[in-house]
Amino acid sequence: MIEAFIFVLAYLIGSIPSGLIVGKLGYGIDIREHGSGNLGGTNTFRTLGVKAGLIVTSADILKGTLAAAIPRFIDLPPIFILIVGIFAVLGHTYPIFAKFKGGKAVATSAGVLLCYEPMLFLTMVAFFFIALYISKYVSLSSMLAGIYAVIYSIVTKDIPLIIVVSLLTIFVIYRHRSNIKRIVDKTEPKVKWL
Ligand code: G3P
Repeated sequence: MIEAFIFVLAYLIGSIPSGLIVGKLGYGIDIREHGSGNLGGTNTFRTLGVKAGLIVTSADILKGTLAAAIPRFIDLPPIFILIVGIFAVLGHTYPIFAKFKGGKAVATSAGVLLCYEPMLFLTMVAFFFIALYISKYVSLSSMLAGIYAVIYSIVTKDIPLIIVVSLLTIFVIYRHRSNIKRIVDKTEPKVKWL
């Protein structure tokens, strides 16, 4: 019973629309009407600049970490960190507080991994920036970081981690369908600051 309550709580935490809150309260702008239209850190960077982008990305990571940490506080087995994390990612992607139109699952998934396996999070972030430096595409680098996480989890032989990271990475790629099409069409925006 307590598990069901935590799943709902994690979904609600994930549903907090950081990009919408920062955009509307700080700048009077709905970022869903700008750039890629995505309610995520990348589109906040693109639309509102570095400060807002950093705040939203950090908040989206934190949502995953905080939600995934709940099972730790009440001594549930480690697998619950990952399961609860999935609910936070679903909240971030389909937020009840923003008409179910949220982000692309990257930052909040990373936050869940930060809680479960900090070394995976750190090396994944490093891998993301190397991929970004080479490709200049945030979306492609996000998907490649997901694939890196799958390989990392396979090396650790942690079966729950392998399953959940694989599911999250498939979901991240699915959420980037429009980006993949733009990359193929050569219309996906590249970052200019790297
Ligand atoms: O995390 C989302 C990012 O990979 C792509 O965002 O706004 O370029 O679609 P966006």
